[in-house]
Amino acid sequence: MPINEIPHVDRLSRHADIESSLSSLIEADYESALRGWWPEPFADHFREVYQVELTGTYAGRAIDHPFGKGSGQLSMTLAQVRESAEAGLAFVVLKTVIGEDASGSRSMAAWATDDIRMAVEPIVGQSNRSGWTVSWKGRGWGRSFEDYLALCRGSFEIMTETGMTVAASAKMHLPASLDEPWRLAEYENVIGSLARTWHDSGNPGPMPFEKDFSPTLAGDDRSRSHDCLLRWLNEIVPNIRNVEPNGTTIGLKLMNAVGPLELQHRIIDTALNLPPDRRPDFLVYANRLFDSDKSFEAHRGIAYGGPDLSDRNLGVLTDRQIRVRNSGLEISATGDIDSGRTAVEYALRGCTSAQLHTLFQVPLDYPIEPTVGRVRRVLARLIFDPHDGLVAWLAHARAHWGLRDSRGLACWSGLRHLAIPPERCIRDFQTRSPQ
Ligand SMILES: Cc1cc2nc3c(=O)[nH]c(=O)nc-3n(C[C@H](O)[C@H](O)[C@H](O)COP(=O)(O)O)c2cc1C
Repeated sequence: MPINEIPHVDRLSRHADIESSLSSLIEADYESALRGWWPEPFADHFREVYQVELTGTYAGRAIDHPFGKGSGQLSMTLAQVRESAEAGLAFVVLKTVIGEDASGSRSMAAWATDDIRMAVEPIVGQSNRSGWTVSWKGRGWGRSFEDYLALCRGSFEIMTETGMTVAASAKMHLPASLDEPWRLAEYENVIGSLARTWHDSGNPGPMPFEKDFSPTLAGDDRSRSHDCLLRWLNEIVPNIRNVEPNGTTIGLKLMNAVGPLELQHRIIDTALNLPPDRRPDFLVYANRLFDSDKSFEAHRGIAYGGPDLSDRNLGVLTDRQIRVRNSGLEISATGDIDSGRTAVEYALRGCTSAQLHTLFQVPLDYPIEPTVGRVRRVLARLIFDPHDGLVAWLAHARAHWGLRDSRGLACWSGLRHLAIPPERCIRDFQTRSPQ
């Protein structure tokens, strides 16, 4: 039995099946985008040329397209945030800061370990499909809380200037037993300071915020007690909301628990069924897997991603598709999103945005135009790849699955209302047999 149970899941594995004239148009746009062109006005281009609409939702905000950068090593500096905005990403989640109270005391100090060395490596999943993972032994933000607030201040200003949504992310005290009280002083200091920084930036509405339950937490003694883990999910939202009522849009970034799927089902069920006073505004589903035997630079026990991660996430979301719909909760997808097609797979299961980390790091297999940065090149591929890109797959969904709104548009936001797999698209999904 593998350490992490990976369900068998039907995946889209073919190229988009669309008319060749349409494919040529998409290909021409892709080539132009790799040379520096970008659609302007953005939404009009897709509506008029392709009769598709890419608009999504992240943290309750409308976004031009679903793609953003997940929290991590690629959202630690203002230069990275600015490159993301200039490339046209819809949102960026800043690196997770480890919370402290007003005196500087940190109960989760063990997570404040940064490291600059990462290895981007090929990985083969249990389905035999290959992909990429990033090996790394760091955890959260390793610098001071003041430095993090400075990153937030500058990033919120970039948001005001460019319109790209920016979210902060934090990990604060988590009780190690069922009767240990929460250290609310950490929540008050972190959320209060972030909210003041947000208000000073002049951005309207509540501050987008993610509470991270990380893979290293999944591998830690703290989450060995399943009841304790479920207690965190049950009780955490008021800790954040009470500091700034109506001031924060709260997202819970759920972990992938180590081991069998049963606990994973309990995690998502708990998060989807929280009563109104404990309910987050959105979920992020779901952070990387943890393997206590996997090593990097003599450090044993690291997180990993790749095909097993997307298979597990999509499998669990498929199992819970009715509950996801009934909950009405917004879900931001994360995990091995390597193409517009994989994003569509998450959208069919209820997700409204897609946040990536690994794809921004993998070696690029297409010609490099020095004036076009890496983030833009990845975004161009996600949207315009004629086989696997989002536009091609929305056109496929219109042609084969009946995805069409009253205006005749095939919309990203409409995918979540199709059945999974849509009756007419069974042939497009392929069951991957276990090895
Ligand atoms: C090197 C690295 C560091 C990360 N750090 C964080 C973090 O600090 N906070 C967080 O919520 N997620 C973190 N993540 C998770 C990513 O945001 C993302 O959810 C996850 O890697 C799955 O997406 P991917 O398969 O596209 O990489 C990190 C991921 C990587 C690879």
